[in-house]
Amino acid sequence: MNNQNIFNEIRSKIDIVDLIGEYVPLVQKGRNYFGVCPFHNDTNPSMSVSREKQIYKCFSCGASGNIFTFVRDYEHVDMKGVLDILAPKAGVVLENNVVSKKNSKYDKIYEIYELANKFYQNNINTKDGQKAKEYLKNRGINEEIIKEFEIGLSLDSMDSLTKVLTKKGYDDLTLDRIGLSSNNHDLFINRIMVPIQDANGRTVAFSGRVYNKKSDHKYVNTKETEIFKKGTILYNYHRAKEHARREKYLIIMEGYMDVFRASSVNIKNVVAIMGTALTTEQSDLIKRTSHNVYLCLDGDNPGQKAMMSVGEQLEKVGLQVKVICLTDDEDPDSYIYKYGVDKFKSLIESAISFSDFKLSYLKKGINFNSDLELSQYVDTVIKETSNIKDEIRREIILKKLANDTKLSYNTLEKRLEEYLAKSNNVHKEPIKVNTTKENIKLTKYDKAAYGMIYAMLLDKKYLDKFEKQSLYFAIAPYRYLLTEIEYYYKKYRNIEIADFYTYLLDKEEVLELYNKIISFVDSDMINDNAVDDYMKVIKDYNVGLEINRLKDLMKKTYDEIEKSKIAEEIKLLRIGE
Ligand code: UTP
Ligand code: MN
Repeated sequence: MNNQNIFNEIRSKIDIVDLIGEYVPLVQKGRNYFGVCPFHNDTNPSMSVSREKQIYKCFSCGASGNIFTFVRDYEHVDMKGVLDILAPKAGVVLENNVVSKKNSKYDKIYEIYELANKFYQNNINTKDGQKAKEYLKNRGINEEIIKEFEIGLSLDSMDSLTKVLTKKGYDDLTLDRIGLSSNNHDLFINRIMVPIQDANGRTVAFSGRVYNKKSDHKYVNTKETEIFKKGTILYNYHRAKEHARREKYLIIMEGYMDVFRASSVNIKNVVAIMGTALTTEQSDLIKRTSHNVYLCLDGDNPGQKAMMSVGEQLEKVGLQVKVICLTDDEDPDSYIYKYGVDKFKSLIESAISFSDFKLSYLKKGINFNSDLELSQYVDTVIKETSNIKDEIRREIILKKLANDTKLSYNTLEKRLEEYLAKSNNVHKEPIKVNTTKENIKLTKYDKAAYGMIYAMLLDKKYLDKFEKQSLYFAIAPYRYLLTEIEYYYKKYRNIEIADFYTYLLDKEEVLELYNKIISFVDSDMINDNAVDDYMKVIKDYNVGLEINRLKDLMKKTYDEIEKSKIAEEIKLLRIGE
């Protein structure tokens, strides 16, 4: 079985609406399903999924494709990775190497990181690792967690890793560049090593924690490299994503230790932001796991402050954010260790909405006796409240605020209305779900060509008819696409819209046109009469071109006999001979 057949078989066994529905909630509207597109920042349902065609298309960002491209782009994997995910779902067993893995220019770096990871992991299991293991054990990190998170140890030596790697033939310049050594010296010395993986589970960086002596830096981290862009990585994402999808929420914590602890009590839908602010890319990753997120950063001041900005960022990409509040001196790690998992789970249960968190955060430290502070506080709260959609909640907040501040409800309400009026002007642009049909301005010829090609895809008899009439496409991209259609029919006898999509994936010059055609045309635009009309338009267009060509020719011809011959030809063309 070749690749195309394997792809087709898998495709035939997985319904695209079911598949995308696992990632994004879909709502049926007419013949299509709609959901929020995961490939750009959005909160409107701009992505349409067609059960009939087994394709999806976002009318906002233009993302489109079949089940394979969806999984490829959603999971950030190559086609081999896509097959690994979808083959089991389809119940298709892949024989080894049917799909060859494409070499990436970073393969060598990944390889070195894998070796370094193995080296560190091995160290912690030797005599050198006893102290480190003891340290971890004292913190309640057992063997299982060490294995699960591939925790390792860098030795108390200046160059043990560099030596191992240069012996294997990797040059020191490369090792410097990728952040493992510096001038033939190891970068990580005598630290407990936490490997950091990207969304695909490949180790791309390390973080090394001190454990048996004093240091100014609790953690030493790999610098940014070709394969490690901090703002694109969330710790434990590749493990947590499946769990989050199943549990229908993701928990966001600060540090590695929090993740280890949560995992040790079997809470696996957790990522760590590694103590930094959240980027849009990271928020997008989060959005791909679940619509619901729980923020559980440290209970101290910096943690609360971070909660404000991280929560804001998460809401911006359209996520439902809740906050798990810990007391001042706790982080998730210490909380779970002290009070146990059941207590922590009840904290999850009683998590508050992000807007409630914001309000209580804003209230902290306000001196209600200072007129200025009080009025600023009131203003901020009302401004925040104006962003809340639920009218009842707005009223509750205003009542509380009136009570807290001893200000009259009416005054507060008036101010809120001012803000609401303002934000209405900003937000009340109509929600646009463009349909391609309104969007693309097509000429009569293009419409006919689109219809003709779609007809050929649906039924080979239309291709035969087209060729029997010696018709052709005068415009190159249509001609190229037709060639591919002919080839595909010869080889596979039958065309499914979504399978042909797979076939065209590496043929960029026609894929775009194909994309437009399959999203523009529907099967109800195809029948014998319609196809006759399409063929007529295409024929007329070709005749027009031919007449123009002959006219040009006539201008260049001086032989009168030749000239009248050409004129006769033009006449025949005009009357349709
Ligand atoms: P924490 O101080 O909470 O670290 O910082 P932790 O992982 O929970 O470790 P313990 O409990 O003190 O052992 C949260 C995260 O911030 C990043 C790390 O990713 C850490 O997990 N961080 C912190 C650093 O990168 N460097 C530092 O020096 C400190
Ligand atoms: Mn911590």
